Amino acid sequence: MNKHESDAHLRSHWAATLKEHWDIDAQLSRLDGEYDLNFLAADASRAGYILKVMRSGCERWLVDMQVQAFDHIKARAPDLPCPHVVRSSCGQPLLSLPDENGDQRLVWILNQLPGRCYAKIEPKSIALIQDFGQVLAGFAKALKDFDHEGLVRDFKWDLTRAAWITEELCCLKDPSRRAIVEDICNGFEELKQDLAEQPRQAIHNDANDYNVMVAGDFTGPRHISGLIDLGDMCAAPRICDLAIAAAYVVLDHPEPETALAALVSGYHATYPLTAAEADMIWPLLRMRLAVSVINSTLMSAEAPDDPYVTISQAPCWRFLEGTALHGGLLKARLRAVCGLPVVEGADRVLAWLENERGNFAPLMGQDLADAPMGSLSVEQSTWPQNPFHMPLDEAARVGEEFEDQGRIWLGYYHEPRLIYTDLAFRKGPWKASNRRTVHLAVDAFAPSGTPLTVPLRGEVFAAEYRSGHLDYGGVIILRHETPQRDQFYTLYGHLDPEFLNRLKPGDVVEKGVAFCQLGDPSMNGGWAPHVHFQLALSTDGIEADWPGVADPDEMYLWRALCPNPAALLNLADDKVRYFPTDKMTVLAERKARFGSNLSLTYSDPVMLARGWKHHLFDEWGRPYLDAYNNVPHVGHAHPRIQTVVADQLKRINSNTRYLHPAQTAFAEKILSKLPDHLEVCFFVNSGSEANELALRLARAHSGAKGIVTPDHGYHGNTTGAIDISAYKFNKPGGVGQADWVELVEVADDYRGSYRRNDPDRARKFANLVDAAVIALQQKGHGLAGFIAETFPSVGGQIIPPKGYLAAVYDKIRNAGGICIADEVQTGLGRLGQHYFGFEHQDALPDIVVLGKPIGNGHPLGVLVTTREIAESFDNGIEFFSTFGGSTLSCRVGKEVMDIVDDEALQENALVVGEEFMKQLKELQNAHDCIGDVRGMGLFLGLELVNPDGSEASDICSYVKNRMRDHRILLGSEGPCDNVLKIRPPLTITTEDTRMIATVLEKVLLEIQNR
Ligand SMILES: Cc1ncc(COP(=O)(O)O)c(C=O)c1O
Repeated sequence: MNKHESDAHLRSHWAATLKEHWDIDAQLSRLDGEYDLNFLAADASRAGYILKVMRSGCERWLVDMQVQAFDHIKARAPDLPCPHVVRSSCGQPLLSLPDENGDQRLVWILNQLPGRCYAKIEPKSIALIQDFGQVLAGFAKALKDFDHEGLVRDFKWDLTRAAWITEELCCLKDPSRRAIVEDICNGFEELKQDLAEQPRQAIHNDANDYNVMVAGDFTGPRHISGLIDLGDMCAAPRICDLAIAAAYVVLDHPEPETALAALVSGYHATYPLTAAEADMIWPLLRMRLAVSVINSTLMSAEAPDDPYVTISQAPCWRFLEGTALHGGLLKARLRAVCGLPVVEGADRVLAWLENERGNFAPLMGQDLADAPMGSLSVEQSTWPQNPFHMPLDEAARVGEEFEDQGRIWLGYYHEPRLIYTDLAFRKGPWKASNRRTVHLAVDAFAPSGTPLTVPLRGEVFAAEYRSGHLDYGGVIILRHETPQRDQFYTLYGHLDPEFLNRLKPGDVVEKGVAFCQLGDPSMNGGWAPHVHFQLALSTDGIEADWPGVADPDEMYLWRALCPNPAALLNLADDKVRYFPTDKMTVLAERKARFGSNLSLTYSDPVMLARGWKHHLFDEWGRPYLDAYNNVPHVGHAHPRIQTVVADQLKRINSNTRYLHPAQTAFAEKILSKLPDHLEVCFFVNSGSEANELALRLARAHSGAKGIVTPDHGYHGNTTGAIDISAYKFNKPGGVGQADWVELVEVADDYRGSYRRNDPDRARKFANLVDAAVIALQQKGHGLAGFIAETFPSVGGQIIPPKGYLAAVYDKIRNAGGICIADEVQTGLGRLGQHYFGFEHQDALPDIVVLGKPIGNGHPLGVLVTTREIAESFDNGIEFFSTFGGSTLSCRVGKEVMDIVDDEALQENALVVGEEFMKQLKELQNAHDCIGDVRGMGLFLGLELVNPDGSEASDICSYVKNRMRDHRILLGSEGPCDNVLKIRPPLTITTEDTRMIATVLEKVLLEIQNR
């Protein structure tokens, strides 16, 4: 019999057994199993079972223990995702039956749980890991009163007996690896006593990533759908169970501490841990990994040719060798995530500080109760102008607006700030990577030389000089002790380092003594003179190198480890604690105050407080790469726009009924970029208003009403603009198509009627206009004109085939119509090769409409047309738009266009766009779900498709949301919302597009593994 035949024989034998003893008619397929034979059995109703045929010689107690445990869990916690044992036709959970050779085997059946194993799932989200913690805790809770003689067993996977590996360390030939495992064994030795004191109970003992099932796919949240395989159960402290699961959760996770904290918090929420247990997780986790590597090294000695043994070790070594996590800090993190005192005695220290508030010596030599607060927060302050670079002179002036003749003012604790611009504050490779922003201290700003007084007796723990720009300069850390002998620490940064002559570690400074003084910027890290006063309840893991600011997403740890030091300043906590605006409150208020069709992007909306070029910052200072917003054309918060606006508002902001040279200067700038026949400008406030006006001009000039426009277009939100916007009027609930509007197919040569392999496609798409014109004429409306976004954007970032628009315009003109180019999305250099989209099409419009980017956020719309059309419109009735063409608007519009020229932003769009396009095409080659990459300059679209080529809207939505998780803002468009829309401010660089391509690749891999 060959392998195939023997496998078929095996399956038919066990299928017959299944039918005979369980009355289940099913197809069998083999599952992986280390020792036993496991089959997936699917019956006609598609119910699934796991048929387990134990290895011959398997002891009955081992299976019996599992059967009873499954029954026990089902009885105690019926809602837990746990398989149950299917009884045989005669009611037995476990039978001894002959295998195909006639040998007796123990056979039993479980129902199959939905989902795939956790090991195969990406991403392993924090919510999923938390769920895992809860399920694991649910199992432990349910098993708490389970008993079985088999639970007390002497085997290598009982973590309490893991010290067996100390005898085997010599199997590791690499001395550095051996040293790592030795260190782990020493750590284990230290906790053995504590571990022995923990109560024992039945635990799963092997919640590895192949024993955890996950249901759901990328379209919705995933959840844990099962914890399987009780074959390694034993009686042990429950913390071993959690540590084992944790050992797998951290492996190859991009943020292992966050993943670990999520698992522990999920567990704690269901089956609360003690502080002693929380402290054991990290050393036990490492010990479990050590057991794994020693075990597989020993096995590889027995089976040297089995590559699997080495492969399975790789992630463990990657973690043990490559992850520099500090045990002390991790303990604090795990205690903090459980809401336990962050270190032993932390609760007592806090209570003592509370009690002593008011009795400490005044740090600044005076009562600070009335000292004013000054906010340097992301929301309230504009320090620094560039959140990626704080020059020396700005740092030295920080907060100068709060200065009042040397009077002390205070900076907030818990305040997110953008002033920490050094690379040391960034937590990843990109500008939009997480950064540490939240201040963990209180600042007291006062003139340099101001003496500082010790609030309470302390011993010098560190007295140093840190010379880096934006570092501490002179810094002192004191260690204090409460009367109950609990220790805590205070830090004083940005000092004059003169104290170095007087103070050294170990010296004692008495309460009330003046022990140092504020430095000036030449010696304090470059800052405006102040002291950074921070409290820490432990230095384990931070020693003398305390972070003065923390990642906003890690505040659960840092608030606990470095709490508000207000008590030591004899101040109320609330006076010095900053509360960033609560996003959920703003959301609730918005819902109460606005219409519900004022939509928000992302189910967890982003609240933005600052912008700079093509980056945005939320209220916590989290950075985002803005690859979506085209309105801030020359970049968010451009200094030249700020200056022009402020300057003009100091002078006059009036309207077009009065003369001002700014109006003509702006008009001339626009006309300089347009073909000569376009001579007359109309200034309005928005793209919608400009398109509304375009309709009026076309009608005035042609004497007709009918408009031809491509399907899925968008031209604005006014009544007339909606009528010519199929993207709106054709939506369910839309106003429907007006009688005077005729739609033509979008010239989409990727998905439309004529494809890229047809050299005549531009003409064929253009020919579709003929029927539309005739229809309008037949209905008696005549033809007023044709309007199109030159490159359809909401239609899916489409570049029409070259020559399409020129051919359409010919037809329209021949029929007496006006050709309107809506360049709101495409104009002003975005396309790189061209300043306007119609140039690419060799088409000459009669009216050009500009909007959005022309004001860089200031409301501005422009219409430019021929003298002849403008004259047809002049019927004696005044045209007036109150704010259109205001002095301010004209100056802003011209400044935007000047910046595009001065900063060579059109060239940047060309260069960065071409490079980016190459990166995107490479991704397309590797990922079938990218059907098309198209665009020009920084007007780009990625069409996402299903294997059958249809529009993959769900993939598109997934990608858009995952990109946001990675801090990249993109849009989605197209009739089926399956086109990723990329149109960043023109300041974007190749470093940023590399970030987009890198992250996009990661996200696309998640889809491949869905
Ligand atoms: C192509 C196009 N035209 C016109 C408009 C309308 O501009 P506004 O929103 O300034 O009225 C938009 C807005 O998205 C647009 O994309």
